[in-house]
This record gives sequence, C-alpha cells and structure tokens, in this order.
Amino acid sequence: MPEVRFREQRYQLRDRETVLEALLREGAAIPNSCRAGICQSCLVKAVGGERPPAAAQAGLSAQLAQTGHALACRWTPAADVEVALPDDAAVVRGVIRAAEDLSATVKRIRVEALDAFEFYAGQYAVVMREDGLARSYSIASLPTDGFVELHVRRIAGGAMSNWLHDEAGTGEALALRGPAGQCFYMPGNPQQPLLLCGTGTGLAPLVGVLRTALAHGHTGPIWLFHGALAPAGLYMEEELAELARQHGHVQYQPVVLQDPQQGMMQGALDDVVLREVGNPKAWRSYVCGDPALVNKIRKRLFLAGAASREIFADAFVMGGPAN
Ligand SMILES: Cc1cc2nc3c(=O)[nH]c(=O)nc-3n(C[C@H](O)[C@H](O)[C@H](O)COP(=O)(O)OP(=O)(O)OC[C@H]3O[C@@H](n4cnc5c(N)ncnc54)[C@H](O)[C@@H]3O)c2cc1C
Ligand code: FES
Repeated sequence: MPEVRFREQRYQLRDRETVLEALLREGAAIPNSCRAGICQSCLVKAVGGERPPAAAQAGLSAQLAQTGHALACRWTPAADVEVALPDDAAVVRGVIRAAEDLSATVKRIRVEALDAFEFYAGQYAVVMREDGLARSYSIASLPTDGFVELHVRRIAGGAMSNWLHDEAGTGEALALRGPAGQCFYMPGNPQQPLLLCGTGTGLAPLVGVLRTALAHGHTGPIWLFHGALAPAGLYMEEELAELARQHGHVQYQPVVLQDPQQGMMQGALDDVVLREVGNPKAWRSYVCGDPALVNKIRKRLFLAGAASREIFADAFVMGGPAN
C-alpha cells in the first residue's frame, strides 16, 4: 500500500483511505472539520510523490490548486505522497476588533485582516486559532466595511465556537484562510428576482448577499427567509425588518416551526419558501445553513423549475469529535 509522509513521519495508507484518515488514525496534528471536502480546513500542500487529483482540489482557488494544495479528506492516493501544511502565503493574520451577542447563542465577531484579504460578501473563510484548530465561517460584511464579520453560533461541546464565545475577545489574534464558496452576489442582472433562505447562522452569508445586491442597485424583488425552530433561534430581526422598510423591493420573512410571534410565519422552511415563491424558474437562489435543509430546499427549487446554475448553496457541514 502507498504511504503518506508528513513532518518527517511515514504513515501507511489502508485500502481506500484518504490522506486525512491515515494521518488522524496515527495521531498526526492536522486541522480538519467536515471531512466532506467542503470546509477546506484540512488543506495540505503536496511536496513530493503523487500530484493531487482534481477531486482533491475541487473548490480551491486557482492559485492554491496551481501551487499543489489539496484537501486531505478528498485525496485517496494511488502512490506514495509527501504533504506539508499549507504555504504561509495562503494565511492572513487577523485580529478581533469587536465581539457582540446577536442572540443568546449567536455572536457577531468582527475581524480586521492585517494582510490583504480579498473576498466577496457571502463567501466563507477558514478561521484558525494559534494552535491550528480551524473551522469555516461565512462572511456577512462587505469588503468596503473594512472588517470581516462572522456570525458564530455556540455549539454544545464545540471547540471553536465556544472559544470564540467565551475566550477570544477583542484584541485576540487569529488567522484567516480563503475565501471560498460561490454564495455571493453577481452583478449584471439587476432585475432578476433573488431568493435568500437559510437557517440559523445561515443568515450570515445571506446578509452579505443582500447588502451587496442593494449596494449594486439591484431592482428586482429580493426575498429573505430566515428559518429557526423557535423565535429564540432568530436574530437581527429588527435590523432586517428596518432594511425591508427602507427598500420596497426587499421582503424579510422570519419562519419558525413552533411558537410563532407577530410577523412570523409558521411551518417548515422549505414548505413556506416554495409556497411563497410560487414558480422559481426566473429566480436566482441562495440557500445556506443546516445541511439537510439546504439539500432539501435546493432539490425542491430545482424540481419546481429553477435552473441548477441559478441555485447557490452552502451547507454548514460540521465535523464529528472535536480536533
Ligand atoms: C462552508 C461552511 C460555512 C460555515 N459557516 C458558519 C457560520 O457562518 N456560522 C457558524 O456558526 N457556523 C458555520 N459553519 C460551521 C462551523 O464551521 C463549525 O463547524 C461550527 O462552528 C462547529 O465548530 P466547533 O469547533 O464549535 O465544534 P466541533 O468541535 O467541530 O464539534 C462539532 C460537533 O461535534 C460534536 N462533538 C465534539 N466533540 C465530540 C466528541 N468527542 N464526540 C462526539 N461528538 C463530539 C459537537 O458537540 C458538535 O456537535 C460553517 C461550516 C461550513 C462547512
Ligand atoms: S474539507 Fe476536509 S475536513 Fe473539511
């Protein structure tokens, strides 16, 4: 069987094992989270042996792919390979400038990037702690804001989210990598109806897309549906309702499964969205948050007539045990 070399150690690959699986099995310190090729926290650089296959470079920027970077969780080598942690050039230094509770479980964190960090609002960045812990968070701010705004939901037992909530206050240093993801506004069709729907902190990229659309003078209708189990799972309600009041073509609709309050719709997010939108054929859709719901809504929009190239989705796939 082929072997993986990493930090001067050799690890034997088992049958159909990925680079990440082999390294973790042997206790190597390698950042990771989703293990599904989405979050990009397991980025490595090929420095010898087999070149990374296209499947291990899916979703990476052209620059990362050209410099031999790959996702360790998506790479099943057929021959020996040597990998290293990513180039320092791929990492941007950051400092937390503000941290504020948006709800009992969601914190808004504003990071100043100390090096050049180009992104579109709605993409996601890999946030890295000094010890290498890495998780992806979507960007709610615009490049012109001068900071990178993240909405972080506290996850019971979660390593990064609890650190960001409880320990990493203003002035804390961290690093950013990326950005990645296709959930961002594309100018050029200002009259096209836009559908933005998400659950929980899936709101973060949607706020980024909404604000960018408005900054570009988008004139078509924009529907924002924010879903939660109960009203406590929503946040930014007043801010978004005010935005909708200021822009006649923007509709903001909170949706909960239970205990709806005034102005909220009750029901499953996918049912409400499909019912309210009617025929989504002409729409561009952005769907973010809980993976099961994201996949369900994406499928239902497609089956209802939306073109797949007009559906942009980010499923917030989490890892298993913290590492
Ligand atoms: C593209 C993308 C965008 C994202 N955007 C956002 C965003 O904008 N906002 C946001 O809040 N999140 C976002 N996420 C999710 C985020 O990346 C993290 O996965 C999330 O914050 C949890 O990280 P954590 O370190 O706190 O939890 P982890 O430590 O990774 O734990 C994850 C899960 O594993 C469980 N777990 C932990 N330890 C164990 C154990 N020993 N045994 C069994 N189970 C265990 C935890 O309870 C938790 O349920 C995004 C994810 C992706 C892929
Ligand atoms: S992309 Fe590999 S762990 Fe998420």
